[in-house]
Amino acid sequence: MKTVAVINGSLRRESINRRFAESIGKLAADRLRFQFVEIGDLPLYNDDLWQPEPPESVQRLKREIEAADAVLFVTPEYNRSFTPAIKNAIDWGTRPYGKNSWATKPAAIIGTSPGALGASAAQNALKGLVTVCDMVLMGQPEIYFAYKPELFDAEGNITDESTKAFLGTWVDRFAKWIDRTSEPRVAAQA
Ligand code: FNR
Repeated sequence: MKTVAVINGSLRRESINRRFAESIGKLAADRLRFQFVEIGDLPLYNDDLWQPEPPESVQRLKREIEAADAVLFVTPEYNRSFTPAIKNAIDWGTRPYGKNSWATKPAAIIGTSPGALGASAAQNALKGLVTVCDMVLMGQPEIYFAYKPELFDAEGNITDESTKAFLGTWVDRFAKWIDRTSEPRVAAQA
């Protein structure tokens, strides 16, 4: 069973992006274990905070990313871009210089918004950042999902069959992507 560290760019309790990712996690549960990584308690990036000891939240972020087999970014769209919480988490993970926790991780981006464009601008803005941080980003299929509560039941299961089929295909592709692009990792084998 492969572990996917899920970074949700929304910090709010009723996040539709969180719900959406949880629903996909249920679909994937026989192959992938989704582990949501807390990013709301990270301070704004500040180089001074590495000394004498980095904040516990930063240490935990780096540990959880390094232990995961892959990373999934789930981004809301804020003013046609991804959220500052995601940028902040990514920046912390890339430091100290030479100890980039994201390096070589298979990665994917998804997102949803109530609007018809389904966070497409946010996701496309995030692609460059994920790539430059040395993750191996899956390009297809893309998920630009216009969120409609009626597509899900109270437990977050997807009730609409065509949505389920589409997201099921995405899960298949991501699971294969992780297998295909994973580098052997000493820490994972210990
Ligand atoms: C938004 N929202 C939004 N939606 C969109 O489709 N395109 C956009 O550019 C924006 N811009 C934007 C800016 C800011 C500051 C906020 C707070 C919101 C609406 C957004 O998609 C909606 O609030 C979602 O519910 C946010 O996702 P979560 O928090 O529910 O996961």
